[in-house]
Amino acid sequence: MSENKCTRRNFLAGAGWLATLGTFGGLAVASGRYLFPNVLYEPPLEFKIASPEEYPEGVTFVASKRIFVIREQNLIKVVSGVCTHIGCTVRWSEERNRFECPCHGSMFSANGAVTAGPAPKPLPWYEVSLAPDGRLLVKEDQIVPFQHSLTV
Ligand code: FES
Repeated sequence: MSENKCTRRNFLAGAGWLATLGTFGGLAVASGRYLFPNVLYEPPLEFKIASPEEYPEGVTFVASKRIFVIREQNLIKVVSGVCTHIGCTVRWSEERNRFECPCHGSMFSANGAVTAGPAPKPLPWYEVSLAPDGRLLVKEDQIVPFQHSLTV
């Protein structure tokens, strides 16, 4: 009978120690998180692509940056290739003269305006300029009107 009491006492003491160690362990882990803050390492919003001569007349998709470079004679424009619904990559349809999203059917006119589908906003046009080394410099954090273009 007393052996039974002792076992229960030992069990409760062990459980108490486990709870104490768990509490202090949790505090140590939470304190350690201050040393490693949550930081998002996102791609830069400003980047260079090829020089203007590399882009032929019409629409060219730059897959690595998910943008379209549009050349109309000596004018260059850059539009996002990321659907404004939930971020799928849109495709350019030459025959229909529009951007189409394969995920949920959003469609955007050639100027990026939403013409169909769940996309809530038009495709943004980005500031593009000529870098000193002759390459195109795209600034995704600078949204410009559709009419804006770089003369090369
Ligand atoms: S992600 Fe383009 S329509 Fe949904």
